[in-house]
Amino acid sequence: MIAVTGANGHLGRLVIDALLRTIPASEIVATVRTPEKGQALAAKGVQVRIADYNRPETLDSAFAGVDKLLLISSSEVGARAAQHKAAIDAAKRAGVKLLAYTSILDAERSPLALADEHRQTEAYLKASGVPFVLLRNGWYAENYDSAVASALQHKAVLGSAGEGRISWADRTDYADAAAAVLTADTDQAGRVYELAGDEAYTMAELAAEIARQSGEPVVYKDLPEAAYKDVLVGAGLPEGFAGVLADSDVGASKGGLFHDGRQISALTGRPTATLAQYVAQALKA
Ligand SMILES: NC(=O)c1ccc[n+]([C@@H]2O[C@H](COP(=O)([O-])OP(=O)(O)OC[C@H]3O[C@@H](n4cnc5c(N)ncnc54)[C@H](OP(=O)(O)O)[C@@H]3O)[C@@H](O)[C@H]2O)c1
Repeated sequence: MIAVTGANGHLGRLVIDALLRTIPASEIVATVRTPEKGQALAAKGVQVRIADYNRPETLDSAFAGVDKLLLISSSEVGARAAQHKAAIDAAKRAGVKLLAYTSILDAERSPLALADEHRQTEAYLKASGVPFVLLRNGWYAENYDSAVASALQHKAVLGSAGEGRISWADRTDYADAAAAVLTADTDQAGRVYELAGDEAYTMAELAAEIARQSGEPVVYKDLPEAAYKDVLVGAGLPEGFAGVLADSDVGASKGGLFHDGRQISALTGRPTATLAQYVAQALKA
């Protein structure tokens, strides 16, 4: 039995679809926070169970009988370390034989502030005694969806990533890699995967590709961190989240989102999405 937390999230839904291509629905547990969030998943034939990291009492029944658990990192930045600890404790109580955790690329030395909670979770997992595999996810291409949309309006992509090369891949790539690890015949315990796209791109290259495909004169404008944060707040993002995103861009300028190990394509057996493919899809949306 394989369970996936956050199964109603963007990544979780794609992981469930990838698992369904490999194993029977009866061997898949999708955990969600509320019953209504599980309706579409139940329609696929998988077992839907309630698991809220903030309500540890839900986690024991959610993980009962589970052999392998994909703990998809929570979206509640700032609360995540405690939430993940609760999930790891419950996995231990349930006797889970392999816990796969979606961490962050190069967690040990990542300059991104976002890495702190992932480092805490990894350390807790190591000390827990639960057999685990780390899926250290790089940047999602989809993080640029709103940048692509506003680029057409303002003829500019804004950021603080400088010349940093970002080895992004799309969520489908990460989901398929996770499913490959969860369904592998070989023992995955103790492995660490640095998951990143086959190619790396600068923000200037992203802007140039948007310009090429749209015919609009889009350029990249690099801003100081505080100015970029102000732009994000002005666009409606909460202050804290805007700060995290601006910090992540600065981290990218230092190479924090670059990796050339090509471990996603090694797991999935196909190349990761290219810049041109991503932009074409984002422009259609
Ligand atoms: N690598 C990157 O570029 C990148 C970018 C963004 C996020 N991330 C990380 O990757 C994760 C998955 O990405 P995503 O795009 O699928 O995010 P998402 O669509 O926001 O999904 C996050 C999932 O976490 C669940 N969740 C939040 N709080 C929870 C709690 N207290 N108990 C149980 N589940 C909880 C949500 O449940 P509901 O469905 O009930 O809301 C949702 O299903 C994110 O949560 C975040 O940690 C990575």
